[in-house]
Amino acid sequence: MLQDKITQYTAEINAFLTEKADELEQFRIKFLGTKGIIKDIFDEFKAVSPEEKRTLGKVLNEFKQLAEAKYQTLKDQGGVAEVSTDAGIDLTLPGEGFEIGARHPLALVRREIIEIFNKLGFIVAEGPEIEDDWHNFSALNFPEEHPARDMQDTFFIKKGGEKGDIALRTHTSSVQVRMMEAGKPPFRAIMPGRVYRNEAISARAHCFFHQVEGLYVDENVSFADLKQTLFYFVQELYGEGTKVRFRPSYFPFTEPSAEMDISCTICKGAGCQMCKYSGWVEILGCGMVDPNVLENCNIDSKKYSGFAFGMGIERIANLKFEIKDLRLFSENDARFLKQYKTSLI
Ligand code: DAH
Repeated sequence: MLQDKITQYTAEINAFLTEKADELEQFRIKFLGTKGIIKDIFDEFKAVSPEEKRTLGKVLNEFKQLAEAKYQTLKDQGGVAEVSTDAGIDLTLPGEGFEIGARHPLALVRREIIEIFNKLGFIVAEGPEIEDDWHNFSALNFPEEHPARDMQDTFFIKKGGEKGDIALRTHTSSVQVRMMEAGKPPFRAIMPGRVYRNEAISARAHCFFHQVEGLYVDENVSFADLKQTLFYFVQELYGEGTKVRFRPSYFPFTEPSAEMDISCTICKGAGCQMCKYSGWVEILGCGMVDPNVLENCNIDSKKYSGFAFGMGIERIANLKFEIKDLRLFSENDARFLKQYKTSLI
């Protein structure tokens, strides 16, 4: 009878002890193997009456667990390697290594930028890559005839006539507008994202790249706040002692506007190819948000003021990693991408 067999084998399993790998393997084949006792017993079980099945089923499962547990315990104790000859596979052979992925250098730099501004209370905001004329240009005070609106710079998706155009955003400044329209001051946010320009692809230009926009709007925000914020950012990103300088510039959406240079991170100001032997490299554009832009977003420009800035992530990464060819960022060559896994995690 099945019950008798189980009782007998249970006693055998309980009594079984070994430290030898081959004996344990014999045990495994005898009880747990594909042609082993447990398999036989389960086959026999199929033929018993339904009443018997109810009681025997449980006994059978316990029996199987007992055999498995015994095998596992002896294997663990004796440190017996698992050698399965059944399938002709030697599981003691070393396995094949597999490649661990790496973070993309742009993702590393973006994350570092976000972390630094987080410490100053800036939150992260995002906006769409397909934009209308209002958010990309008009609300940002671009005059009607501004060259940036030109076909040569902008990828238009739909020409909608008078201000109805739809295009791939040419900068992340569009997210400023979306943010200000949607809420009430104070605003303190950075806005990372991909932007598009109609440029021929080369080592120094690409038809898409990445930016981080910054916006700070509140009562009594001044140019001194802008300078201090960006100074702190640069010290954190490139190390203390990195110098900054501001040069007057022009952007339609800021007044006054400036471009910020830092002392060259590669040659430390001594002069190299990266800084074209000037000791300085430009990293971002910035300025005080033009009152027209605030008013376009229904913010009282008499009460509130703010600053904004925008930088290219590729440029920031170049100054960290000396990646001279922009195309490398989007070619997905694992040999290139792998190099940056330990630099920043
Ligand atoms: N949107 C500018 C660009 O793509 C960058 C920029 C300049 C953003 C000045 C700003 C700013 O917010 O204040 O070149």
